[in-house]
Amino acid sequence: MSFRRTHYCGELRAKHVDEAVVVCGWVHRRRDHGGVIFVDLRDRTGLVQVVFNPEVTDARAFAEAERLRSEFVIKVEGRVRRRLPGMENPNLATGEVEIYADSLEVLNTAKTPPFAIDSYAAVDEALRLKYRYLDLRRFEMQETLALRHRVAKLVRDFLDSQGFWEIETPMLTKSTPEGARDFLVPSRVQPGEFYALPQSPQLFKQLLMMAGIDRYFQIVRCFRDEDLRADRQPEFTQLDIEMAFVDRDDVMALNEALVAFLFKEILGIELQLPLRRLPYQEAMDRYGSDKPDTRFGLELKDVSQVVKDTGFRVFSETVKSGGVVKGINVEGAGEKFSRREIDELGELASSYGAKGLAWMIVTQEGGKGGIAKFFSADELSRLFDTMAAKPGDLLVFVADKYEVCSDVLGRLRLYLGDKLGLIDHNRWDLLWIIDWPLFEYNETEGRWEAAHHPFTAPLPEDLELLETDPPRARAQAYDLVLNGTEVGGGSIRIHRRDVQEKMFAALGFSKEEAERRFGFFLEAFDYGTPPHGGIAYGFDRLVMLMAGKNSLRDVIAFPKTASAQDLMTGAPAPAMDSQLRELHIRLTAEAERRVQSLTLDGRK
Ligand code: AMO
Ligand code: AMP
Repeated sequence: MSFRRTHYCGELRAKHVDEAVVVCGWVHRRRDHGGVIFVDLRDRTGLVQVVFNPEVTDARAFAEAERLRSEFVIKVEGRVRRRLPGMENPNLATGEVEIYADSLEVLNTAKTPPFAIDSYAAVDEALRLKYRYLDLRRFEMQETLALRHRVAKLVRDFLDSQGFWEIETPMLTKSTPEGARDFLVPSRVQPGEFYALPQSPQLFKQLLMMAGIDRYFQIVRCFRDEDLRADRQPEFTQLDIEMAFVDRDDVMALNEALVAFLFKEILGIELQLPLRRLPYQEAMDRYGSDKPDTRFGLELKDVSQVVKDTGFRVFSETVKSGGVVKGINVEGAGEKFSRREIDELGELASSYGAKGLAWMIVTQEGGKGGIAKFFSADELSRLFDTMAAKPGDLLVFVADKYEVCSDVLGRLRLYLGDKLGLIDHNRWDLLWIIDWPLFEYNETEGRWEAAHHPFTAPLPEDLELLETDPPRARAQAYDLVLNGTEVGGGSIRIHRRDVQEKMFAALGFSKEEAERRFGFFLEAFDYGTPPHGGIAYGFDRLVMLMAGKNSLRDVIAFPKTASAQDLMTGAPAPAMDSQLRELHIRLTAEAERRVQSLTLDGRK
């Protein structure tokens, strides 16, 4: 059967008047106006109004039109007509015209969908995910998928023009240490052994540089078993890039050109290049975050020196015991905020891990409320100088270890920026965070870890610190931050075996463990490894921001929930006993009980 479709619904304009057309799509809405039936017909390009008029439409087709319901799939043949004067719909791209139907073919009927496709009313997300194919029929979702496609296409065009090759790397592989848990896949052929799904193609892209590929990229799925949030999915997509014979500035310049190209093509925005570079330490000092939202102020100030000898013991003793006191000047909030709102800030700070939130309001006479009474006029005046405070401002402080102060105030800052409406949502603030520490301390496990991954090169001047004082060593790493979201990160890599071994040693890997996990990789170093470096973008995150969405789930066709489930397919799901036997896997009694209860009450 030939559909002979001549046009997409959303294409029809006044210039098509009098043309005979054939369109196909879904019934978006159907209205019956005194014997004349109007159908808004939808395909991915938009809507067009189809009119079934008993005077024009053949009788059988008209009878069919009477039984049309939402989401029926139909084919319509007819003629394009200008709408009657006064009947145009300026909200619709096709609103000047309509199709006068000659004939109608119902290609398929449809049950009433669990939520209306034609309304923008909020629908429970679980329901949307269960019926994702219906959710994806909505224009808003289709626009996002189209945007995602365009970004991917432009990325490929740009990188191709710069000599990059797109090369695929394995999904069934060995663990790549990016800081998350691995998803493991049992091997049937090698009983007891497992593949790991890649957390990133990091090792392979470096091996491609060793192989002389020179410029590689890939739009690639990565898998990380970690706690999920709105901007994290267990499987997500990276735009992964690697280049040989480059230094940090080369990689950053190439990526600035790429991002500027995307911004221009997708958003029509000219980015100012080069992008701002903020050292990691400065970002932490001023914003309490390694991915600062720089669209607004409310910067953190360190007042330790001012308060260290004052009578307010919470402050002075914290400083004496090696901690710091940091604060935010919430400008104008001294007048705006009620006492209850100030107390709420305190509760928020506690929930973020602070021992308390000290505050005071700045007045003409000095300070009032909260902790103002603990300070002399002179001390207050020095405090106000440091905080750049003026009457009407609210000052809030946290006294604790540097990391706690930064984290709590950094989060409070974001909350306040939002609450006070300080974030300009039309602004695009892109910046690099550079000079990262090479290592970071894992409190829960009580050991030092690679802040990025263990293949990141130290700054040349910090190479010696690898052995003498690792915590002070800085990395040739860079993260790209867009409006407070980390959209990408990368580094110059270690390309010498001795340095890589030192790095593993500093991370506490024994020689044997390094050999077991990365032996193949270390061996490759011995065969002529060029200097190289690269970056990976969270492709979903980039698209999410460009599309103006708040959740990755809105830019991924078939995403997972916060508990890593796919509500449509029901994955993950119990395996059949025969499959488990083949894989030489036996469930624990606990898992067995759980699976049985799922099967018994029909959930799986
Ligand atoms: P990194 O681990 O920083 O670097 O990852 C790169 C980017 O991927 C995005 N991202 C995620 N997006 C969605 N869901 C997740 N669970 C998730 N995890 C990370 C972030 C992040 O900036 N191999 C290195 C890159 C390199 O050194 O070249 C890497 O994977 O936007
Ligand atoms: P206290 O003298 O313990 O009642 O504390 C006085 C004020 O200081 C209260 O508003 C507390 O919330 C606040 N506070 C207590 N500990 C800290 C801290 N570590 N940092 C900031 N404020 C604190």
